[in-house]
Amino acid sequence: MEFIKLDVEEKIAVLTINRPKALNALNSQVLDELNETLDGIDTNEVRALIITGEGEKSFVAGADIGEMSSLTKAEGEAFGKKGNDVFRKIEALPIPVIAAVNGFALGGGCEISMSCDIRICSENALFGQPEVGLGITPGFGGTQRLARLVGMGMAKELIYTARNIKADEALRIGLVNAVYPAEELMNAAKKMASRIAMNAPIAVRNCKKAINDGMQVNIDDALVIEEKLFGDCFETEDQKAGMGNFLEKDKEKKLKVVPFVNR
Ligand code: CAA
Repeated sequence: MEFIKLDVEEKIAVLTINRPKALNALNSQVLDELNETLDGIDTNEVRALIITGEGEKSFVAGADIGEMSSLTKAEGEAFGKKGNDVFRKIEALPIPVIAAVNGFALGGGCEISMSCDIRICSENALFGQPEVGLGITPGFGGTQRLARLVGMGMAKELIYTARNIKADEALRIGLVNAVYPAEELMNAAKKMASRIAMNAPIAVRNCKKAINDGMQVNIDDALVIEEKLFGDCFETEDQKAGMGNFLEKDKEKKLKVVPFVNR
């Protein structure tokens, strides 16, 4: 891989988009490598994934403008589909994905962060959908996911004006969950990932599926989705161990929720 790094340590994977000369902009090769890397993650072993960008300046500065500049209508549509397919893969990955946004998150950069389950960022992060200034619409999910995350009115304002927002405003509108000094961001992401990894992995992945699938349907169907995924948990060793620990009333064991057993 030329543009993607993957490090796995203690059940946490860190995926770094590594094209710092272009501020980690996403060209076709980066998207292909990202796709292949996601396919290669063993989600029975890895319990949480962190996505970040190489360097201190940029998370991802968007889709590659040079590559897009000469696309035809059909090629533009295909490029949009390529990005959408990869980002959908991130969104549907069975394990939680945390975006550690360490700088520019513009266009496709904001969009990839929005396909992650949780976003945290550094104080120097800058978010935005600048596409209309380039004569295009957001094309890797921005018109859909931004409204779902921050509400339609705010999403429309940001997209129509192409106004970039700093970390404090991203926090205020709910685009990110927390802001850290740059040097603390990765530790914070790893701490959050480790905390997720301590919990029952099948329960965690069922929570992700219940929330993601439930948000796409009406509340009655959504609750049926929850009931099925809740029921599934009762076939796991994690449920027996987790509840057994509680019922034994042994304080030490009650706190000791690991090790949980994978499927
Ligand atoms: N595509 C291709 N190259 C990019 C890029 C991008 N999105 N963003 C930055 N780069 C390249 C620059 O061309 C430059 O390369 P060279 O050194 O070879 O000239 C290098 O990265 C460094 O960039 P700058 O010199 O511009 O750095 P800066 O600190 O002065 O500015 C910036 C940083 C404000 C992020 C500026 O680079 C910028 O505005 N980038 C474009 C941001 C953008 O518009 N993103 C949205 C793209 S459209 C999109 O993403 C569509 C979609 O939804 C799918």
